[in-house]
Amino acid sequence: MARINDHFSKLPAGYLFPEIGRRVRAYAAAHPDAKVIRLGIGDVTEPLSPTIVAAMHAAVDEMGQRPTFRGYGPEQGYDFLLDAIRQHDFGARGVDIGADEIFVSDGSKCDSGNVQELFDAAASIAVSDPVYPVYVDSNVMAGRTGPLGADGRFAGLVYMPGTEANGFQPAPPEHPVDFVYLCSPNNPTGTVASRAGLEQWVAWARQHKAIILFDAAYEAYISDPAVPHSIFEIEGAKECAIELRSFSKRAGFTGVRCAFMVIPKQLMGQGAGGQLRSVNAMWSRRHSTKFNGVSYVVQRAAAAAYSADGLRETMGQVAFYLDNARRMREGLTKAGFTIFGGVHAPYLWIRTPDRMPSWDFFDQLLTRAHVVGTPGAGFGPGGEGYFRLSAFNSAAAVDEAIERVVKAFG
Ligand code: MLT
Repeated sequence: MARINDHFSKLPAGYLFPEIGRRVRAYAAAHPDAKVIRLGIGDVTEPLSPTIVAAMHAAVDEMGQRPTFRGYGPEQGYDFLLDAIRQHDFGARGVDIGADEIFVSDGSKCDSGNVQELFDAAASIAVSDPVYPVYVDSNVMAGRTGPLGADGRFAGLVYMPGTEANGFQPAPPEHPVDFVYLCSPNNPTGTVASRAGLEQWVAWARQHKAIILFDAAYEAYISDPAVPHSIFEIEGAKECAIELRSFSKRAGFTGVRCAFMVIPKQLMGQGAGGQLRSVNAMWSRRHSTKFNGVSYVVQRAAAAAYSADGLRETMGQVAFYLDNARRMREGLTKAGFTIFGGVHAPYLWIRTPDRMPSWDFFDQLLTRAHVVGTPGAGFGPGGEGYFRLSAFNSAAAVDEAIERVVKAFG
């Protein structure tokens, strides 16, 4: 019999969002008249912007003509997209990132799951709790943890509690670790790291020669100019950080798939013999071995999101979702809920009524209000007693959901 990777058996059977989907489908099948409103998985609902659609059409036409047809592209991404990223996402914020420090990919979920291939099998890993489950599960699959304990934690992982007391932004751990995952604006809590908070993290990482994996997939939702969009806005971060960016929530690409990872040339890791290795060179080797690049049509679409019209249209969509979040925050706060996040992020993090277990609240919300959200416990033990609502839906659906929740629980 073929030997399989036993580490998979440490994981709960299903990934969080398919499990929610399964429960919602079962409820909808049993209650066909219930008009269920989905505020669970953070999936965009607005169609692609006209400028992006036009760019995709034009790129498809190019692919259909012999003189402009393209086969394999450069693995790291086409120059037209790398240049737009450099200029708009970094240059405009005073950060100089080289084209060869950017790796275009098919999504931040894949990048955040794949990045652990850079780590030694025995590397120590720290995550916030609550946490985006991919950071944890991908390390479990790779055998970097022990079994799941009764406390909901995997042995061997360092959990950094995000609590109301620290604004769900944990400080660096007391004991050094090799790699730490940070996400800001944060999924699931919707809270954001301040400049001072990021400076503390960068100082800690440089002191301990740790690497920070900074997931900035939601940076477009930052609405305070004092809050950094990139960790590379912090002095010294190029020596200690990798950044993940995505077009999913910034330009409505959840179904199109495009993201990128920034790995500065200065970033070094250490091999078993103490030798220093360029992490950028390692990832370049990995990327060109296992990936053949994002399609030309999709990269043209991503580049169109940086044109003047593309920026105006996509930032309009971000503002639309943020306005949904604002109405949700205001409506639910008025009804007595305690709410966090939802200001610089499309997610609201809600204390469950009377600290009800979050899966129980999921069931109650579904059966009493026909509204779907995400139980905090799905993001780790630190999420128990909380619940995530996403602001990705039509204005009408969001307003109706608020009304129903207020009626059922207010
Ligand atoms: C979420 O709901 O947390 C996100 O949509 C998941 C993802 O981006 O993979």
